[in-house]
Amino acid sequence: MSNLEKTLSIIKPDAVERNLDDEIKEMFKNNGFKIVNEKKIQIEKSEAEQFYKVHETKPFYNELCSYLSSGPIVVMILEKDNAVLDNRKLMGATNPKDAEIGTIRKKYGLSIDKNSVHGSDSLENAATEINFFFKD
Ligand code: CMP
Repeated sequence: MSNLEKTLSIIKPDAVERNLDDEIKEMFKNNGFKIVNEKKIQIEKSEAEQFYKVHETKPFYNELCSYLSSGPIVVMILEKDNAVLDNRKLMGATNPKDAEIGTIRKKYGLSIDKNSVHGSDSLENAATEINFFFKD
């Protein structure tokens, strides 16, 4: 039975700065994801703070929000069967050092902060995050 889902993906400033956005988009497409909407934007720190509100109590919150707003990012809605989980698998572990070979973070990530991509961690958060960037 099919389980078509949408999830939110962000190509973070470290990857956009290195012109890796097209390569990363190819990895998504080659793994069966359809990019149903995308835009390259730069957000304000206050928007990053809202986006990452779930991490507000974490010691890395301030740095994380400064970083996400430090340069252009590509935000995308990805669609496929089991998109949320499959995107997390394709991204790999949060810390590129722990990510498996073949994952995006292993291939392109520089550090736990500059880990090249963000992906929604649940179907519920995917809906919230998609709505955050694509309200229409
Ligand atoms: P992301 O999937 O975008 O979600 C929150 C981000 O916080 C995460 O990727 C990391 O880039 C960043 N981060 C920084 N330090 C930590 C940490 N100690 N644990 C988890 N995430 C961290």
